[in-house]
Amino acid sequence: MRKPLIAGNWKMHKTINEAIDLVNGIKRELLDFESADIAVCPAFTALSSVWEVLINTNIKLGAQNLYWEAKGAFTGEISCDMLKDCGCYYVIIGHSERRKYFHETDETVNKRIKAALASGLFPIVCVGETLEEREGEKTISVVKNQLQGAFNGFSNEEVDKIVIAYEPVWAIGTGKTATPQQAGEVHAFIRGWVRENFSDAGAGSIRILYGGSVKPSNIKELMNEADIDGALVGGACLDADSFVSIVTNSI
Ligand code: PGA
Repeated sequence: MRKPLIAGNWKMHKTINEAIDLVNGIKRELLDFESADIAVCPAFTALSSVWEVLINTNIKLGAQNLYWEAKGAFTGEISCDMLKDCGCYYVIIGHSERRKYFHETDETVNKRIKAALASGLFPIVCVGETLEEREGEKTISVVKNQLQGAFNGFSNEEVDKIVIAYEPVWAIGTGKTATPQQAGEVHAFIRGWVRENFSDAGAGSIRILYGGSVKPSNIKELMNEADIDGALVGGACLDADSFVSIVTNSI
């Protein structure tokens, strides 16, 4: 049985004080909530302060990116150890905004996952097609290529530690959610791909989140799909009430 995971991707929002307010609001309501795993992924600058609020709670901290080298002359980058130092447990890797604006490729996604796993961080790996690709009926081949690139060279044990997020690019921040059927189809493909390339057990246990305009009002129907195990939430996670409702409506 896969435990749902609801993760909030705060993107480039919230100063330190705003982040503390938001996470306190979430913690107040969800402190005793055990039916789903919960994670918040603030900007780098707020990680430590948010961690101080979350220490010894059921709510996990995640980062939105990392760099694969351990240390050195890489101005502006952040290593796995630095993230762990701030209390991070998860790290989002290969978000479509990173691919689009910061030239992230399947190869660099793979390097980031490798570094995260080696350091003990749990990667949330994002895949998903653009509108043009969906309209060209290329969804499955695009997602397959992204998976092949991202998972290249990993063992079954490593794959067990990875969370996948299927995020159709056309649904991110647009208010246009994929229908449960559209998402469910791709999730089923992803699980089948893991079965084929790794193991039955791995396919059975890997969590596949949906992301793209998830809201309190649509999480239930998405979660009704057999292969949807949770959500990566953007816009609707920036307000405590809305994020809390998504978490409580997810089970
Ligand atoms: P959204 O973003 O919920 O605002 O569509 C999701 C994401 O980018 O992870």
